[in-house]
Amino acid sequence: MANYSEEEIRAFGLVKEALPKHVAVIMDGNGRWAKAKKLSRSAGHRAGVDRLRGIIRLSSDLGITSLTLYAFSTENWKRPSDEVGTLMALLIEYFTKEIDELFANNVRIRIIGAYEEFAPTVRNVIERAMKRTENNTGLNLNIALNYGSRAEILRAANLAMRQAIAQGKSEITADMLEQNLYTAGQPEVDLVIRTSGEQRFSNFLLYQISYAEFLFPKEYWPDFSDEAFIDALRVYQSRSRRFGGLEGNA
Ligand code: FPP
Repeated sequence: MANYSEEEIRAFGLVKEALPKHVAVIMDGNGRWAKAKKLSRSAGHRAGVDRLRGIIRLSSDLGITSLTLYAFSTENWKRPSDEVGTLMALLIEYFTKEIDELFANNVRIRIIGAYEEFAPTVRNVIERAMKRTENNTGLNLNIALNYGSRAEILRAANLAMRQAIAQGKSEITADMLEQNLYTAGQPEVDLVIRTSGEQRFSNFLLYQISYAEFLFPKEYWPDFSDEAFIDALRVYQSRSRRFGGLEGNA
């Protein structure tokens, strides 16, 4: 449930009914942010984690249904091992430190991606966070870890195929495929934000973003403030979404 009233939301220049239900964010630019400040890449990732609290809180208070954050892709294993180690340590620290507040705010944590491939120390903390918040009814916070969209679609197709075979059917339906995506049961993505000015999707939610609006703000992720997020929501609301139909007909 939103904590902000309709009037408070209007004071931000936003219209409650027209808010996106599902926002997905590619948090890009931690490294460049750090370099510009002559800091280590680790410091950049830490600053990136510090930005999560504000964006999650705001999404929850606005009554957004789902927020999906790209935290670690299947390709991120290619980074130097000390950087991968830093990201893993930050994940453990994040879930340990923030879980009480997330729980208190009725946030439900869901991990999307093959997180079972992580070391037991990381897996345990992730699984505890999911278990602890599984009955929460507020914001769905999907954190993409060891995530790749092509792998997700292939996995869903294989699961759906097995179900079809078990039911004696020779084809899978779109519904069966969707039910086997990590985001099953959640609204389709309405808005994708990629910070740092880069304009790529990097294997992120390729099925779920079919009709999404895209925004590529210039700020590096650690500088993407609450105000910048609200700005992005305003731009989203100024766009006309037609879903392939005609104006006023969507
Ligand atoms: C992109 O910046 C960012 C990442 C690959 C990692 C994003 C991860 C976090 C913000 C931490 C997530 C942690 C939790 C607890 C959810 P980059 O390193 O590619 O930046 P660059 O393109 O400027 O080098």
